[in-house]
Amino acid sequence: MAGQKNLHSISHDHFTGMMLTQIIRKGNSVNDDFLKNIDEKVNYTIHFYDQELANHFYLEEQVLFPLVKGLSEEIDGIINRIVDEHQFITDLVKELNFKTDLENKLDRISRVLEEHIKLEERVLFPKIHEALSDNELTALARKLFENGYENIYKY
Ligand SMILES: [Fe+2]
Repeated sequence: MAGQKNLHSISHDHFTGMMLTQIIRKGNSVNDDFLKNIDEKVNYTIHFYDQELANHFYLEEQVLFPLVKGLSEEIDGIINRIVDEHQFITDLVKELNFKTDLENKLDRISRVLEEHIKLEERVLFPKIHEALSDNELTALARKLFENGYENIYKY
């Protein structure tokens, strides 16, 4: 478990993503002071996608996944599914520009994104940790750091 911290800046992004899924979930009024109505939730979701998610997807696809592809067939299969889901989530966010059925669209994004994050955190990352030695995990962390995960050592 010594290498467990090496994927933590990605996990930090996942934590903020999980907060989004709660904020935009249908019937969830916990954050009503923060985002008072559906339009504000839509604007926040689009902003969050542009500022956080798009870059997160890009770094995973361009930096992390090429480094761990080929470790096992199972990992490759999960990565393929995750890349498909990135596109699907991107399409769902784009649909927010059509101003119909917004509450249900947000709820869909919330649920798809939550399952997506769980797949990475609970399935993919443990399998990566399992497949790599501590030294290999440290090397992976260094490469992530060099390629844009600048806060990799902060958590
Ligand atoms: Fe991710």
